[in-house]
Amino acid sequence: MKKITVKSPANIAFIKYWGQTKHNLYIPRNNNISMTLSNCQTITTIQKDPSLKEDIIELKNGDKYSPLLKDTHKGKNAYEQINRIRKLAKSKDKVHIRSRNTFPSDAGIASSASGFSALTGALLLAFDQRKIFEDKKEFSKEVRLCGSASAARSVYSGFVELLSANSHNKSYAVQIADEKSWNLVDVVAIVSSEKKKTSSSQGHAAVDSSPYYKTRLIEIQPRIKKVRKAILEKDIRSLGVATEEDAISLHIVMMTSKPPAYYWEPGTIAVMKEVIKWREQEGLQAYFTMDAGANVHVICEKKDAKKVEKKLKAIPFVKSTIYNEPCEGTHEINTHLF
Ligand code: PMV
Repeated sequence: MKKITVKSPANIAFIKYWGQTKHNLYIPRNNNISMTLSNCQTITTIQKDPSLKEDIIELKNGDKYSPLLKDTHKGKNAYEQINRIRKLAKSKDKVHIRSRNTFPSDAGIASSASGFSALTGALLLAFDQRKIFEDKKEFSKEVRLCGSASAARSVYSGFVELLSANSHNKSYAVQIADEKSWNLVDVVAIVSSEKKKTSSSQGHAAVDSSPYYKTRLIEIQPRIKKVRKAILEKDIRSLGVATEEDAISLHIVMMTSKPPAYYWEPGTIAVMKEVIKWREQEGLQAYFTMDAGANVHVICEKKDAKKVEKKLKAIPFVKSTIYNEPCEGTHEINTHLF
């Protein structure tokens, strides 16, 4: 049977998604905006195999592939996504899937966005749903249903917005600008490789217990407009200020939810403070943001990236860095993993 391989990037959100309007459909409570990441990608190969009794998903860990277990959170979502798309295609065929990341799996970088967008793309192509795969609006809706809605932003290249809505049909991703539009860079400072203690899904479910969540949903609206405009006008200062504000607003909600989630480590604060200092003392246009984790994404323009990388590496808490430019979204490639 024919093999199909799909490559898909992770993304970093300038405006974050936290909390859902409809939990079973993973619809975000607010519009959210991100950039795709060139050096944080997942490659996934799929083959339908009628001789198989069960689906097999194998993930590369170090030098070898090992099965993704069904009783893990990631495993449950991945096997459910296979069943959903198989049903959509009215098929009964089982599949063999192999997947690997282009970034170190022990770096503490969440791979759900690249992983689930690559998986969904591979499934759509294997089950003859190319029309959906090529219609990025429809494709992004299918990705959203995998359980990690931020993955829906990875289907497009460059700068992307995922729309909040009250129904499945109206919550999809749109492209704001392509990957060549702006030489923006995300240098990820790895300060911790530990697995996060609170998963995003636990966080989304707890948002209403934070007294600050309602405020976030109000104050985020002008910020969304500001970020869209900053991307179109390539205005690093305006994008950076809004991005930092959004990250802090998000982490306040996280830390004041019940139960609270504290994602920061000492290295997180150290990097944040350094970035602020570089701006104040040298006018270096670099800005920080953090997802549901301790690592810090430092956003700057390409002309400043070498300087930023060098400065980050000099901070004792920083174990390594990953340099990213905006890149192509989910697409098919012809080198297979098996
Ligand atoms: O898509 P999820 O359920 O993994 O949640 C994403 C949460 C954040 O990374 C913190 C924010 C975002 O929009 O990427």
